[in-house]
Amino acid sequence: MPAFTATAPGKIILFGEHAVVYGRPAVAVPVNNVRARAVVMADPRGQVGEIRINAPDVGLETSLEELPEDHPIRAAVEGVLSELGIARAPACTLRITSTIPISAGMGSGAAVSVALVRALSSFLGHPLSNERVSELAFEVEKIHHGTPSGIDNTVITYGMPVYYVRGQALETLRLPEPFVIVIGDTGLPSPTALAVGELRHAWQMDQDKYEAIFNSVAVIVKEARSAIENGNTGGLGPLMYKNHEYLRQMGVSSPELDRLVEAARSAGAAGAKLSGGGKGGNMIALANGGSAIEIESALRDAGAVRTIVTTIEESKSIQIDA
Ligand code: PMV
Repeated sequence: MPAFTATAPGKIILFGEHAVVYGRPAVAVPVNNVRARAVVMADPRGQVGEIRINAPDVGLETSLEELPEDHPIRAAVEGVLSELGIARAPACTLRITSTIPISAGMGSGAAVSVALVRALSSFLGHPLSNERVSELAFEVEKIHHGTPSGIDNTVITYGMPVYYVRGQALETLRLPEPFVIVIGDTGLPSPTALAVGELRHAWQMDQDKYEAIFNSVAVIVKEARSAIENGNTGGLGPLMYKNHEYLRQMGVSSPELDRLVEAARSAGAAGAKLSGGGKGGNMIALANGGSAIEIESALRDAGAVRTIVTTIEESKSIQIDA
C-alpha cells in the first residue's frame, strides 16, 4: 500500500474574533506558508488494529492506545474509524509534522486534525468530504477549547478566506487583490479559553455594553468583507485599527499586543490589530507597498519573538497525495 499524505494550512482571524462567539460574523484566512502534514503508511510487520504514532515535533513516538483517551491525535483517529465504521484498521504508522507555531492562535491543532483525518480516511479507502473533515476536526477542538466557534476547523479545511457566522452555511470569499500580512508574536501564551471566559463574565455583568461593542464589530466585519471582495484592500487598514480598539474595549488586548500594534503603525502599516484569542499570542499588520520588512523589524524591536510574512490570496490548498 502506498503512503497517503495530506497537508493543511495555518490560519489567522482578520476581523471579528470574540464577537463571533456571540453570533456576529468574522473573517479568517489560511496562512499557506506554514502547514501541518500527516502521512499514513501501511506497516507490513504490524498486527491488524495496530496504529503507531510518530510526531517528532512534540516528541511523540508511541502507539495509539498508549495515548490518553482525550489526546487530540487519538480523538481524531478514533473519529475517522467510527465515521467509517471500521473497528480495526490495517496496521499503519501515522507521521505528523507541522511548521505552524503551537499555541499562537494560528490553528495548529485544527490543522493537525484536518491533515490527519484526510490522510487516514484516504488510506482507509474512503476520503471524507470537506464537510465531514471539518466536523470531525471540530469535535477534536471541543476537547480542549470548550466552546469553540468553529472558525478554525472551517477556514483550515476549506483552505480559502471565509466569512463565518456560527451555525450558518459557510461562505468563502472572492479575493481579487492579494495583500500582505505581517504576523507578530508577543511570545506570551495565548490562553483563548481564559480570554473567552473572562469576556463571558464581563458580558454577563453588563450585556448592553458588550452587545453594543459586538454590533460595532459586526459593522466593521461587513465593511471588510466588501473591501476584500471588491479588491479594495487599502480600505482594510483603518478597519483593522478600529477592530483593535473594540477588542481593547472588550478587555482582551494586553500591553504587549498594544505595543506591537503601535510599533506597526509607526512603521507605516496600513492597519494592525490583535488576532485570535488575545491577552497574548499574535497581532497582525497590513503591509502596503513593500513595507513588510520595515514592519517586521519594528515589531521585533518592540518585543515580537517571531514574525511571519504571508501573502493572502485566493487559493485552493486542499491536497492529498498517494
Ligand atoms: O486564538 P484563536 O486563533 O484560536 O482564536 C480564538 C477566536 C475566538 O473568537 C476568540 C474564539 C472562537 O472560538 O472563535
